[in-house]
Amino acid sequence: MKNFTSVNDLVSSSFGGVGEAINALAKKALEYKANPLKDKTLGANKRIGCLFLNPSMRTRLSTQVAAQNLGMETIIFNVGSEGWALEFEEEAIMSGSTVEHVKDAAPIFGKYFDILAIRTFPSLKNKEDDYSELYIKQFIKYAGIPVVSLESATLHPLQSLTDIITIQESLNNSPSGVSTKPKIVLTWAPHVKALPQCVANSFSQWINAWGEADFVITHPEDYELDEQFTKGATITQNQDEALKGADFVYVKNWSTYTDYGRIYCNDPRWMLTNEKLKQTNNAKVMHCLPVRRNVELSDEILDGPNSLVTQEAGNRVWAAQTVLSEILTPIP
Ligand code: CP
Repeated sequence: MKNFTSVNDLVSSSFGGVGEAINALAKKALEYKANPLKDKTLGANKRIGCLFLNPSMRTRLSTQVAAQNLGMETIIFNVGSEGWALEFEEEAIMSGSTVEHVKDAAPIFGKYFDILAIRTFPSLKNKEDDYSELYIKQFIKYAGIPVVSLESATLHPLQSLTDIITIQESLNNSPSGVSTKPKIVLTWAPHVKALPQCVANSFSQWINAWGEADFVITHPEDYELDEQFTKGATITQNQDEALKGADFVYVKNWSTYTDYGRIYCNDPRWMLTNEKLKQTNNAKVMHCLPVRRNVELSDEILDGPNSLVTQEAGNRVWAAQTVLSEILTPIP
């Protein structure tokens, strides 16, 4: 694996098809979970640079732990708050607030590090700019070393790999009660802020590519996601209908995609509760975190027996460790 920025980076992996590749990565991640230090020298004398243009807790810490488990050194650089303001547009006349062009900075990161990992967020102001993924593409173009997305303007692939690992782990531990093809529901939830579509896009992209679930997306009117990620899923605005018989419910807010970056709905009836959960097949509930309690997801769910959120966040380490090990391991 050269870069890791979306599920499409698995197409050229040595695993065969994308579904097989996802299963192989999930298996490897669960092996790391059972034996975290089994490849403790794989990254010896290698260094990963993690650039954060935006805040993070889980992604930052889990990537550091993962790299350390492989014997790698990690350097964190909070570009957004500590670095020079970067310019990403080609041929920009830099007479504004940006100080250094990515064309100058990225090759330097390429000299300092063996792998570059980057977190950016969308502006949520200009859909074309955000969906062009200019930031991550410019780093890939100019760094000359493998690039790992720690969440980009439109996708969060390490989160999505983690989510499939967590679903697979839960299926492995539930021999009865869950069909071999689980029903997975992605449900929109209310929020006070306009949030990116990254997690929902990415989850949809990965579950569709995995191909081993009956996948349903439910959201209010006007919250359709970009079809390039959702195609293949059943989409409904009837949350109750969607929840019927669900084995997993993935809860996430996102702002509108079509009329970009807006909040059209804050209806609290979209928040998942134990009453709503009764319609499911005793579904496990997932969320990427951070979560606004009792706005996006209720206390009773988060603190209840069906919540996978802490296990899911813990699994971020094994997803990151698997991806780093795939990049470090030369393809024979
Ligand atoms: N889920 C996730 O990416 O969490 P952080 O924003 O804390 O990294």
